[in-house]
Amino acid sequence: MKKILTAMIVLAVCIGTVFASGAQEGAAAPVGNAAKPVIFFNRQPSDPTTGEIMMDVMNWNDKTYYVGFDAAGGGAVQGTLVTDYLATADPATLDRNGDGVIGYVLCIGDVGHNDSKARTQGVREALGTWNGSTDPGQAQEGSANVGGTEMKVVELASMAMTGLDGSTWNANAATDAMLNWATSLGDQIDMVISNNDGMAMGCLQASNYPEGVPIFGYDANADAIEAIGAGRLTGTVSQNVDAQAAGTLQVIRNLLDGLEGDAVITAGISVPDQYGNKISADMEYVPETKALLAQNTGVTADNWTEYQAGARDTGIKKINGETKRVILTIYNSADNFLSSSYVPALQYYAPLMNIDLTIVQGDGQNEASCLDRFTNLNSFDAYAINMVKTNSGWDYLDKLQY
Ligand code: BGC
Repeated sequence: MKKILTAMIVLAVCIGTVFASGAQEGAAAPVGNAAKPVIFFNRQPSDPTTGEIMMDVMNWNDKTYYVGFDAAGGGAVQGTLVTDYLATADPATLDRNGDGVIGYVLCIGDVGHNDSKARTQGVREALGTWNGSTDPGQAQEGSANVGGTEMKVVELASMAMTGLDGSTWNANAATDAMLNWATSLGDQIDMVISNNDGMAMGCLQASNYPEGVPIFGYDANADAIEAIGAGRLTGTVSQNVDAQAAGTLQVIRNLLDGLEGDAVITAGISVPDQYGNKISADMEYVPETKALLAQNTGVTADNWTEYQAGARDTGIKKINGETKRVILTIYNSADNFLSSSYVPALQYYAPLMNIDLTIVQGDGQNEASCLDRFTNLNSFDAYAINMVKTNSGWDYLDKLQY
């Protein structure tokens, strides 16, 4: 009887162990494509209304990261760029109709994009026009130091800039808006602020752009830098596209080389990697959101030559690692920043890091334009994703489930 009892206890313990380990295995590490690295870049998985980061997406697997730039810090840099300019401006020249009020118009970009929200907030906070909302038309009366005199500042108009096809950050929409604003608001407009260079250059295309009115962009695209040199654009903000593109590829390389823990976001970034490479610029890692961020700097007539095209990061040299295949999506092939700045940087750094990159590009309005090209997923070692809508992360991740 004693033997039978002992046998039963042993059996029960064994069954328990089997179930317990079975349960652990059920929740265990993902396999196949679901276990591969996923890097979101430039468009951070976030709620389009609140801007809150979607951590369910970011916690997809332990090889999921975001690589971008400090969006809130960038908004503040953009705001300071504008107020620094005003501080040394001549009120008599700047205030075109002499009414004692500095009027500005604002090109917002994509109201559902947290970069866009951060820039609107940064500018409005700097000018005192922030009323707690990043929406178009939501501004209060502000004030700023203009050449030593405190003057009233008013946001005369602001618009999202959505194209006829529904695409966001649309430069043509900005040209049309500027045409209308210059007609309807006339010399009340003392300053134009745009949340990206594409839209700023779009404003300058308007045939009635009021000559000499200062205009600010964001991104430091090559054409915008040249426009600063030519005195057409007043300032822009560099979000350090080289650090971002190299950073996206470096994190992928690190994960595919089997690095774990902190090494994933430090090797080649804050310390040299096993090949001796290291991105020259400082990048900040935010563990709460698994985000590796480049820093922003203001660009004006004083320093524009340092940002001229062609200056690549010499900290990244050709490596001898095994070639890895990566598929990368771009939300809109017509986006000025991504097509003229980000993609060329990727194309420069990918071969150096022995990454064979397949780039697929969407139309900026339908997620399907990207998703339908996000295919043959088994044949890639890692995935880099720039979504059309910032809350579409799961549409891509679902395709990696099987
Ligand atoms: C850039 C914009 C661009 C957008 C696309 C932003 O970070 O500054 O120019 O249109 O990303 O997602």
